[in-house]
Amino acid sequence: MRRSDPADYRKSHLRPGIGESYQASYRDPYRSLFWELEKRILDRILVECLGDGDVHHLDFACGTGRILSHVAGRARVSVGIDVSPSMLAVAKKSTERSEIYLADLTTNDILEERKFNLITAFRFFPNAESALRNDAMRVLVRHLDEGGRLVFNNHKNLASVKYRLARLRGRGGFRGMSLAEASELVSKNGLEIRKSYALGFTPASDRHMVIPAALLRRLEGGLSKWPAIKPWGENVIFVCRRAEGA
Ligand SMILES: C[S@@+](CC[C@H](N)C(=O)[O-])C[C@H]1O[C@@H](n2cnc3c(N)ncnc32)[C@H](O)[C@@H]1O
Repeated sequence: MRRSDPADYRKSHLRPGIGESYQASYRDPYRSLFWELEKRILDRILVECLGDGDVHHLDFACGTGRILSHVAGRARVSVGIDVSPSMLAVAKKSTERSEIYLADLTTNDILEERKFNLITAFRFFPNAESALRNDAMRVLVRHLDEGGRLVFNNHKNLASVKYRLARLRGRGGFRGMSLAEASELVSKNGLEIRKSYALGFTPASDRHMVIPAALLRRLEGGLSKWPAIKPWGENVIFVCRRAEGA
């Protein structure tokens, strides 16, 4: 929860060396635990939505290729795109099978008429300012196959336990996203949320693990099975497709 996010999120990861430090941050026990849990969810989504069929994957704002490289082994086509040369320099080392482009699709759609049946965008939407969120969603929908899935996360859910506690302690003004904002973004771009998954039900963070990692993993595993508490997870993963009749 940082207050210093830049006004233009396009410029957020341009500093030389940021790719290396972003990748290193995933060696942190908290981040690596939640990345393990996210990978399990991604694998489930792949099986449930795309079965044994060919996967044509676009990872928007792919950064260092975290999501891209995880899906690449399963994909026939694997494309990553980002505006940060430093982030992409790391991605290029981890995903030899992928096409990687330095571009801003929202201002220069270099993908032209290409379509994908899986589009992912992680750790992007809640950080982005509202105009950028909408521009990005609009262009991603353009590249989504008729029966394809757009999977994105809101890792800064303003209704989560962590954000609620922070507000109770008098801290506020964080950049994040509410579930209502996520739903509106999706529906005004002709998509519907078919399923969601949530993680991060405790106040634990990379600065304060609160409880040992093994215990946190078990706790998260148990809590994530209760659909009623999904709105309180810090990280909500949405699986969307074109709305019927859209
Ligand atoms: C927090 S990183 C997330 C990287 C990766 N998706 C992940 O989950 O690890 C956010 C990324 O969004 C990228 N970004 C910001 N604006 C963008 C835009 N208009 N088009 C493509 N990438 C953008 C940044 O350069 C940065 O690499």
